[in-house]
Amino acid sequence: MRKYQIYINGEWTGEELQTLAVTNPANGQLVGEVPYAGEVETNDAIDAAHTAFQSWSQLTAFERAGYLKKFYQLMLDNQEELAEIMTLEMGKPIKESRGEVQYAASFIEWFAEEGKRVYGETIPSHVHAKRLQVWKKPVGVVAAITPWNFPAAMLTRKMGPALAAGCTVVIKPSSESPLTAIKLLELCEKAGFPRGVVNLVTGSSSKIAKAIMDNEKVRKITFTGSTEVGKILIRQSADQVKKLSLELGGHAPMIVLNDANVDVAVKGAVASKFRNTGQTCICANRIYVQSGIYDEFIEKFATAVKELKVGDGIDETVDIGPLINQEGFEKVTSHVEDAVSKGASVVTGGKAIRDESGAFYSPTVIKDVNESMVVMQEETFGPVAPVQKVESAQEAIKFANSTPYGLAAYVFTENVAKGMQVIEQLDFGIVGWNEGAPSAAQVPFGGMKESGVGREGGHEGIEAFIESQYVAIGME
Ligand code: SIN
Repeated sequence: MRKYQIYINGEWTGEELQTLAVTNPANGQLVGEVPYAGEVETNDAIDAAHTAFQSWSQLTAFERAGYLKKFYQLMLDNQEELAEIMTLEMGKPIKESRGEVQYAASFIEWFAEEGKRVYGETIPSHVHAKRLQVWKKPVGVVAAITPWNFPAAMLTRKMGPALAAGCTVVIKPSSESPLTAIKLLELCEKAGFPRGVVNLVTGSSSKIAKAIMDNEKVRKITFTGSTEVGKILIRQSADQVKKLSLELGGHAPMIVLNDANVDVAVKGAVASKFRNTGQTCICANRIYVQSGIYDEFIEKFATAVKELKVGDGIDETVDIGPLINQEGFEKVTSHVEDAVSKGASVVTGGKAIRDESGAFYSPTVIKDVNESMVVMQEETFGPVAPVQKVESAQEAIKFANSTPYGLAAYVFTENVAKGMQVIEQLDFGIVGWNEGAPSAAQVPFGGMKESGVGREGGHEGIEAFIESQYVAIGME
């Protein structure tokens, strides 16, 4: 079992600190130990990033792209090792872990190029003797706080644009899955990034967050996680008016209308709902199916879901891995129990598979649910698909929008005009239309309402790390 270290100013360090155990959720076995860092180490990392910012921000975008491209290639060359680490530390089926490494690498490649397109502006002047320009500058030192469910991609979706823009970074990965992040930093070291440009601390979330918030050298926080924690970060960042990008919770509706292609809808529902064992922020969390195709959809959906194999994610044939921890397992179990106690019926699955080492839940379809059930009100974050019958598109839209969240939604209809009308009325930042897997490096990812602030990915993803500086030039 390996003892890992944290990475500050180009050095691996922290061996004297107490450690935090990382265990495999599939079997409870220890996978590694990471340093339990706190305020001192975080401030050291911030100092290193602050010093490195002076020179990193002065490189050309083409020079920065050179480092990012080396990192990108190293990620692909180490795909198998990264995927294995990911599966062992957080349970993701190995097939999906490999896919995540590619997805994660795509952010680095895309933003390496996008950094070259950070254009300023020349604005027509209202007087002869003035020239008006907008210059673009990197925001400064960035703290990136990343979640356990996509340990590689959520990190690169933040560090890719930050580094391309000329910012330097202090990373705090989730304590549940820090090992993938550490491996990625080893690859950054190999890629030759100058000292202090990327730094990583593991350990006490509250102490590290406090150090980040208290330190004036940190100008930007980028966070993916729960809405609850996001709200705390908003409050804490107010004192120094730190810039924030927040990708928070979701509760994605999927609307399947009578004129949908049912096979396409079933494929989309399986892809969206059961990706990462139902533990993504954009998973279809509640499915509204119009009455004309309700029975057919349920039957075909249940047939497809029965095919999904549950087990330790390291097994090549597994589709559904363990839940991340006991808390996640209990949430899933209680959502199904609550729905059944209020009149829903289990079409397939509904079985908690728990022994002393791992917590699994069988892929589940429940039907005849309604809005009184917790599963239709809260994000489940597990492999449970509740299906509610609706009479019209308008009824589905009303239910879909009746949530404080606004991250992702899905619509299935073959009628173009109807699809456009429905989507125009949905208050969600991402919509999959006849599509269950909308994510990509070049598109804006983020939510409306309580699902977040700002967008990651696409050109908006790099703007989040850039300040506009308006310059008025007198010519007299
Ligand atoms: C998430 O669950 O937060 C990310 C999902 C994605 O990038 O597709």
